[in-house]
Amino acid sequence: MGVVTSRTQLAKQHNTLTEAGFHRSWYPLCLSAELTAGTAIGRDFLGTRVVAWRDAAGQPVVQSAWCPHLGADLSVGQVVDGRLRCAYHHWSFDGTGACADIPTGDKIPAAARIFSYPAEEKWGLVWAFNGETPDFGAPRIPGAEPETIEHAAQARGERPWDTWIAVSNGVDFQHLRTLHGLPVNSMPDEITVEAGGIEFRVESPFHLQHGRITGTNTFAQHLRFSGQEMFQLFTGAPIEPGRSRGFFVVGVPKGEAQRLPEVVAMVDRLNAEDAPVLSTIRFRRGLLTASDRHLARYFRYVDEFPCFLPPER
Ligand code: FES
Ligand SMILES: [Fe+2]
Repeated sequence: MGVVTSRTQLAKQHNTLTEAGFHRSWYPLCLSAELTAGTAIGRDFLGTRVVAWRDAAGQPVVQSAWCPHLGADLSVGQVVDGRLRCAYHHWSFDGTGACADIPTGDKIPAAARIFSYPAEEKWGLVWAFNGETPDFGAPRIPGAEPETIEHAAQARGERPWDTWIAVSNGVDFQHLRTLHGLPVNSMPDEITVEAGGIEFRVESPFHLQHGRITGTNTFAQHLRFSGQEMFQLFTGAPIEPGRSRGFFVVGVPKGEAQRLPEVVAMVDRLNAEDAPVLSTIRFRRGLLTASDRHLARYFRYVDEFPCFLPPER
């Protein structure tokens, strides 16, 4: 009976979330390298479906995948002359989402538009913001710009958890020692909470950890151990409540590209240690103690985070 009740509560939580929408955040959709010119990629995203493609200038475009004519999935269509053409009756849409052509020559209805998400390419990933206009910039990695480090992005595949729960790891300083066995004894006195992000810095003569959460789905950090620098970014996009698609980025200073595999190995290990816990957790705001105070602040930040319901569901 207890199990039944809990499942019902979970379903209720998910329904509320679906009605309110999803956090207004930047979400990774695919690797930049996957989105070649002339390709249309479809992704289940935020309880609906989107299509990603590149316009004539090579800029990524992310739009609702459902054609306003009869609802065909536009990711089945083709990119022709810098526009996305529906496979079914060849209506074409431009990068702003406006229907630019109907081959029969019929008058184009004013409502023939698809929703366009703000899109950006950064760290080797194509990102879409869940809203009409972005509330803040695409995720940053502390101490690095895309041009100042060697970096590489990889896809992690589908995962059975909500991204905001996984990102709580970023300010869960206890688990670094207990679950991951990292020799980190210190946690920051303070974390800085701003609109759209949380940042902190812990430094000792032996190490540096400069972490940043962007939105509720990306955690990035600049680490230094024994004089060696590395950069990591963990991110994910909700497919629907309880299911997400993961990506990560690794980085090292310029000229040290041969160290990238070692950073990937560390990220793989952290992920492999987190996965059994995250995929089985029945998440709750349980009994938090003094050492969990940054985690508690993060949960409040998540509760207050603005939401947006993507159109064309
Ligand atoms: S369904 Fe897309 S053009 Fe008809
Ligand atoms: Fe972790």
